[in-house]
Amino acid sequence: MTTSRSLALHTDVREQLCIENKPDPCTIVIFGASGDLTHRKLIPALFGMYLKKMLPEQFAILGCARSVISEAEFAKMVREDLTDFEGAGADETEEFVRHCSYLPGRYDNQQVYDELAVALRKLEEKFQTGGNCLFYFATPPSLFIPITEGLSSARLTDERRGSWSRIVIEKPFGHDLASSLSIDKALKQHVAESQIYRIDHYLGKETVQNILILRFANAIFEPLWNRKYIDHVQITVAETLGVENRAGYYEQAGALRDMFQNHMIQMLALTAMEPPAQFEANRYRDEIVKLIRAIRPFPVEELDKWLVRGQYQAADEAGVSLSYREEAGVDAESSVETFVAMKMMIDNWRWQGVPFYLRSGKRLKNRVSEIAITFKPVPHSIFAPVQPEQLAPNVLVLKIQPEEGIGLTLEAKTPGPKLCMNSLSLNFSYKDIFGGFTPNAYERLLLDCMTGDQTLFVRNDAVELAWEVFMPVLDAWSKTPETNALRPYKAGSWGPVKADDLLAQAGHKWR
Ligand code: NDP
Ligand code: BG6
Repeated sequence: MTTSRSLALHTDVREQLCIENKPDPCTIVIFGASGDLTHRKLIPALFGMYLKKMLPEQFAILGCARSVISEAEFAKMVREDLTDFEGAGADETEEFVRHCSYLPGRYDNQQVYDELAVALRKLEEKFQTGGNCLFYFATPPSLFIPITEGLSSARLTDERRGSWSRIVIEKPFGHDLASSLSIDKALKQHVAESQIYRIDHYLGKETVQNILILRFANAIFEPLWNRKYIDHVQITVAETLGVENRAGYYEQAGALRDMFQNHMIQMLALTAMEPPAQFEANRYRDEIVKLIRAIRPFPVEELDKWLVRGQYQAADEAGVSLSYREEAGVDAESSVETFVAMKMMIDNWRWQGVPFYLRSGKRLKNRVSEIAITFKPVPHSIFAPVQPEQLAPNVLVLKIQPEEGIGLTLEAKTPGPKLCMNSLSLNFSYKDIFGGFTPNAYERLLLDCMTGDQTLFVRNDAVELAWEVFMPVLDAWSKTPETNALRPYKAGSWGPVKADDLLAQAGHKWR
C-alpha cells in the first residue's frame, strides 16, 4: 500500500522573489502564418500575453506566407484561433485582431521583402512600434536561409537607430549535423548570434525551468546529486496523440530528430549540468554545452544494447483504429520510428557509472512527462532480516506535465505495534499550491525574445553537439539495416517490450 499526502507550501510567508523584464514596443512578423504552429500555438500565446499585459502596449502582428489570404480572412482565422480562449471578452479579442495584418508572398521572391519593409514602416507609424522587429520563422527549416537572405537584402536585419531586429527559429534546427551547420553558417552571414533565438518550447515550461530552481536554490539536493547517491535517472515524455496532421514533417523526422535532438537532451542537460556561477545566458549555456559534450558516444557496433526504436500499431482496446503506416500522408511501408528508448552515460566525475534512461513516443498509454531520480539503497539495514535492497529506494520525481509537481517517495513506519515499513509519497502539486494556472511555454519564450534575454534559447554550439551525439545513430540506422530494427508496439502500451531490456541489464525497470 502506498500512502499519498500533500505538502502545504506557504507562498505568502514572505514576498516572492521575482525577476521581471518589460518588453519594448515591437512588430512581430510570423513567416508560415498559414500553418499549424502559428494558429495552434503562436497566436493564442500572443493573445494570452496581450490579456496578461505581457505584450508591450505598442505592438503589431504581421503574418506572412505563400497562401493568398485577404486581411479579412486572416482576421477571421485569428478570431477562430481564439474562440475557446478562457477569460477573454469580445472587445479584447477585437482589439487584439486590430493589431493583426497579413502579407502574402513567396519566400524566395525579393519583392515580398521590399513590400514587407514598406508594411513595417506603416505599422511602425500606426502602432508606434519603434522600429523593433521580431521575425518568427514558423516554417520548415528549408526556408530559414531564403527568408534570412530576403530580410537582409531589404535591410530588415540591420539594427539601426537603437532599434532591434531578432529572428526566432524553430526546432528541429536542420535535418542533420551538415544541414544544421549550413543553416547556421548562412544565418551568420546576415545576423549576429545575439540576434538569433533558437526556440525549444520545453525550455519555456515552468516545470522544466523549475529543475534549476530545485537544484540550485535549495541546499539539500546538491550534496546528493551525484554518482555516490543516485542510482539511475529516467526521463520520459510519453504522448497519447499520434502523428495528427503533421505526417509530412514527421515522415522526414521521426522520434529521434523530433524529440531527442532537442527537448530530451535539453532536459537531460538541465538535470545533470554543473551549476553556472550565475544564471546569465552565456554562463548557463556554457554549462549545458559542457554537459552535452560529456555524453558518451553510442557504440555503433552494439547499438541494440543502447537504443530501441518502435512504431505504433492500431489497437481497438485503446480506441486507436489506425497504425502509423495507415495515417494520412504516411508511406504504407514507412520505417520512421514513433518511439525511441535509450540508455545514455555521462563521462564526467559527477555521473560516472550512473545510467540515464530516456524514452519518448507517440500513442503511448498515458500522456506524462517526468524526470525520475532513483537514489541508491541505504548502505546497511538495521532492520534485519530486511536487506537494504528490500527497502524501496527513494525516488524524486520532477513531474513536468500534465500534473505538474514534485514527488518524493520515502520509507516510513506503518502505525501499529509491529515494525512494518511502507513507501510514503510526498507530493507537491502546482495545481494545489498555485491554482490551475500554468503559464504557456510560448508566452514565456516570446516575452524573452522581446526583452532580449537569450537564456532559455539554445545556443548554436549546443545544437551542433546534440546533432553530434545522435548522428552516429542516424547514420547507422540509415546505412546498416541490422541496427535499424523497428519494433512494433500497440497503441495504448508503453512501447516495445524490448525497451525493458535496456534497463533489465542493470536490474532496473521503467517506472
Ligand atoms: P507547417 O507544415 O504547417 O508549415 C508552416 C507554413 O510554412 C505552411 O503553412 C506553409 O505556408 C509554409 N510551407 C510549408 N511547407 C512549405 C514549402 N515546402 N515551401 C514553402 N512554404 C512552405 O508547419 P508547422 O506550422 O507545423 O511548423 C512550423 C515550424 O515549427 C517547423 O519548423 C516545425 O518543425 C516547427 N514546430 C512545429 C510544431 C507544431 O506543433 N506544429 C512544434 C514544434 C516545432 P504557405 O504555403 O502558405 O507558405
Ligand atoms: C514538438 C514535437 O516539438 O513537441 C511534437 O514536434 C510533440 O511531435 C510536441 O508532440 C510535444 O510538446 P508538448 O508541449 O505537447 O509536450
